[in-house]
Amino acid sequence: MPMFKESEDRRAEWEIPSGVFVVSLLDGDRTNGYAAGWVVRVSEVPVMIQVAVWDENYSYELAQACTHFSVHILEEGQQDVARHFGRTCGRDCDKFEGYAVIPGVSGVPVLEDCLAHLECEVASRQVFGDHIVLVGKAIEKGIHREGKALIYNYQDYQ
Ligand SMILES: Cc1cc2nc3c(=O)[nH]c(=O)nc-3n(C[C@H](O)[C@H](O)[C@H](O)COP(=O)(O)O)c2cc1C
Repeated sequence: MPMFKESEDRRAEWEIPSGVFVVSLLDGDRTNGYAAGWVVRVSEVPVMIQVAVWDENYSYELAQACTHFSVHILEEGQQDVARHFGRTCGRDCDKFEGYAVIPGVSGVPVLEDCLAHLECEVASRQVFGDHIVLVGKAIEKGIHREGKALIYNYQDYQ
């Protein structure tokens, strides 16, 4: 029996520290990007990265069949970029408009204004509760500039 009620206090899990990222997705001719905190490296050789996409996001639709995604590591001070990708929906707008974006080797949008990116080919996909988890193998990566990564802080997104 769990020692807590599912609907009650969610503070404990929100204490798990994370960085702040933009994840872009490619599903055929559809692309989108969302702000992400739940990004984990799961293999060193080959480099493999896991992302988790919430089922209320437009990105979830793409995540069900996407072939590639790209993880962009944001820099300290880029909360505005995270708010843009994390507070708008790709159903209503092209979130990349106004941002410098180049196509990755797969065609997935690669955001230039970040510390670094890893472009991944989807290797595994599985639903866990209200998220779909994608694990991707890095097929391309790049350092865009030097700096410190943006750390997730709840207050920044209220
Ligand atoms: C800092 C931050 C971190 C977030 N982390 C995630 C995440 O890891 N997974 C996720 O599905 N949504 C996450 N979100 C929420 C989505 O970015 C947000 O719901 C977004 O509007 C979804 O866009 P879409 O509807 O275009 O997919 C996060 C939002 C913010 C601001």
